[in-house]
Amino acid sequence: MALDRQQKQQFQQRLSQWYHRHGRDLPWRRTTDPYAILVSEIMLQQTQVERVLEFYRRFLARFPTLAALAAASVEEVIEAWQGLGYYRRARNLHLAAQHIVEQHQGVFPDTFEAVAALPGVGRYTAGAVLCFAFGQRAPILDTNVQRVLERVFVKRPAARPSAMQKRLWRLAEEILPRGTDAWVVNQAMMDLGATVCTARTPRCTQCCLQQICHVAPTLQPQLGLFRYPDLSETDLPMVAEDEAPSYGGGTPPPDFAPRDRG
Ligand code: ADE
Repeated sequence: MALDRQQKQQFQQRLSQWYHRHGRDLPWRRTTDPYAILVSEIMLQQTQVERVLEFYRRFLARFPTLAALAAASVEEVIEAWQGLGYYRRARNLHLAAQHIVEQHQGVFPDTFEAVAALPGVGRYTAGAVLCFAFGQRAPILDTNVQRVLERVFVKRPAARPSAMQKRLWRLAEEILPRGTDAWVVNQAMMDLGATVCTARTPRCTQCCLQQICHVAPTLQPQLGLFRYPDLSETDLPMVAEDEAPSYGGGTPPPDFAPRDRG
């Protein structure tokens, strides 16, 4: 299933407009330090955003750089992780820092192969680091992004889960705009999935993708009444201010230096 140019453009424009007004402002979005972004992504693998906030701040205060983490003892690292659970994540993060010091002279790698080779880093986390730290057009697919993409675009799911995963990864790449603009679309998909396009009670009437979403009318049949047949791109259906989940606007994208452009 290939998307046409208009479908992609609409998806990107609607999401980025929504993100600028209703996305979340999160500390790991205010940095391009790949080490800090890796810390956040590893913490977020099994823990909710609200819980991670304080742990992220404290961890970086204690180990402000990759070199500081690599030089720490495993006991110190585990102690700083105390309360977050899933301690294998802390061990892997520590090993990843040591790996970068030993194998990459302490310089955080910026290729998919090298980042995905770090302990505890899979396809999703590698994509997140490349996109959020280096401004690369790297796809990400976590459960929130997966749900958004499936609902908006997938009419007939593949029979085998592995085939479906393959299709979704392809879709996650296809819908990304060029270069550093991918940052906003990836962050926005995560926020929309976490706050509007939720698993159990999706708020389709408040969703910026409602008009282009293939399942919205079946999830909330009353939506049929609100459909605008001929919506121009400059006339995006912004959700009503008083109903919209508002987080004060998403963290603006960082200024990636030209050499970082992927
Ligand atoms: N979960 C994983 N990465 C995230 C991010 N950058 N923002 C919000 N939630 C996330």
